[in-house]
Amino acid sequence: MNENPVQHALTASTFFGLRVFTRTSDMLSLPVVSTGRSFSYYRKIFFGNRSESQVLENFKGKIIADIGCGLTPYISDSMFQACRREGVDFYGIDPKLAKGFKLGSFDKMKARLFGGAGTIDANAPGLEKGFGTLADDLPFEDSSVDLILSNYVIYAWIEDEVVLESIFREFLRVLKPGGQVKIFPTRHIDTQRPGSSSYADVMSGFDIKQRFVGDVKRFMTYPPAYVTTYTKR
Ligand SMILES: C[S@@+](CC[C@H](N)C(=O)[O-])C[C@H]1O[C@@H](n2cnc3c(N)ncnc32)[C@H](O)[C@@H]1O
Repeated sequence: MNENPVQHALTASTFFGLRVFTRTSDMLSLPVVSTGRSFSYYRKIFFGNRSESQVLENFKGKIIADIGCGLTPYISDSMFQACRREGVDFYGIDPKLAKGFKLGSFDKMKARLFGGAGTIDANAPGLEKGFGTLADDLPFEDSSVDLILSNYVIYAWIEDEVVLESIFREFLRVLKPGGQVKIFPTRHIDTQRPGSSSYADVMSGFDIKQRFVGDVKRFMTYPPAYVTTYTKR
């Protein structure tokens, strides 16, 4: 596990800023903003900046889900849309996508806030692969999913240990043995140890590795923090 104290401290400062933001949002009863990051953002954070074609090639034949995908299904330069164009079985999961949701101009503005430069289309192709469900109620068969990605949802917004436990339990249910979950941003593993024995029990179903990412020059977009990979044992 990474023991670099500078990286550890930078990550703590990222989470401090995030906590101020989320607590203020809570106090003002503001909803979680659904953003829509680009494929290049996901490549940089989750795949060590490998090229688009390398990432897509590696995805072929796999079932992949983006948990708390926000408005990415509507955005042309998202990983969701790149996978659709390439015939990759990629799903977006977000309560925001519940049946009846209509993408309005205010949503488009919010998607742009942290989004890429692609076009945003309320009638984008492939929306049937977006599911309006929660992370702990996934529309997948047992042991069927190869890879789960999640950006700025788990740990960033969802902190309640009871909820985290039910989410990771659901991940263990749907993942194939050896299947992986990649989450960004996360704290150093030593500061996110489970408190309850039932949560610890669920987490013992994974091998955990962390990699420090972030770009000092573009820290608003790529803040210093760890991306954590959980591999189902
Ligand atoms: C800050 S946005 C991040 C969106 C996208 N992953 C990104 O990085 O642009 C957080 C998203 O998580 C979704 N969300 C909140 N609670 C969730 C849950 N329990 N399960 C799945 N998604 C959730 C929200 O609707 C919102 O779209």
